[in-house]
Amino acid sequence: MKYAGSLLAFAAGLASAHYNFPDLFSNGALSSDWQYVRETTNFQSNGPVTDVTSDQIRCYELAGRPQANTSTVKAGSTIGFKADNVVTHPGPIQFYMAKVPSGQTAATFDGSGSVWFKIHTEEPTIDSTGLVWASTNQQEFQVPIPAATPSGDYLVRIEHIALHQAQSQGGAQFYLACGQLTVTNGGSGSPGPKIAFPGGYSATDPGILINIYYPVPTSYTPPGPAVWSG
Ligand SMILES: *[C@@H]1O[C@H](CO)[C@@H](O)[C@H](O)[C@H]1NC(C)=O
Repeated sequence: MKYAGSLLAFAAGLASAHYNFPDLFSNGALSSDWQYVRETTNFQSNGPVTDVTSDQIRCYELAGRPQANTSTVKAGSTIGFKADNVVTHPGPIQFYMAKVPSGQTAATFDGSGSVWFKIHTEEPTIDSTGLVWASTNQQEFQVPIPAATPSGDYLVRIEHIALHQAQSQGGAQFYLACGQLTVTNGGSGSPGPKIAFPGGYSATDPGILINIYYPVPTSYTPPGPAVWSG
């Protein structure tokens, strides 16, 4: 896992606390905005999804969005997303993937059904102030595609859960986007467990309804299934 930011981006982030994820990192390079990432409803507002029962929790797709292209990547290689601002809020970055059903492509699949498996969750460190997140004030997030991932078309979903107002139900903020991938040189793993979006998260999950300030948490349980590492 590599989280990278810059001081310049940090300064810009102070003026605009929210964010979206327009750029995909694949094959060692960043895409242009919305080239491989489906344009999200918050492409201008940068605002979050707060209702985990909404279809927007899946890919946050803009109605009538332009079509995105699909990036061809090798299993085992590094993929990532870059946000338009630094991620200023406290909370975890998670990555999910969904295999596209036969007869569809990464460009056509809507991501519905129990198809999403988790490939990364950011675990906080804990100190006397509470949960400390490596993602805070970073802008770019990279993870490996498990080498055992079978070849084929996939959606890849990044999510950042901002927990600064998560002490009240509906207060957690979800910033997310989906990219389109064709995975080659794949393995013979069986990714899982899988969840649906919406469906896999509840507004009262302990990693979604949580007061991160008081009492100071001594652990964090992320929402969603265990990470599949291949
Ligand atoms: C997708 O690829 C085509 C062909 O290279 C290009 O013309 C088009 O602009 C691309 N679309 C996006 C969203 O980048």
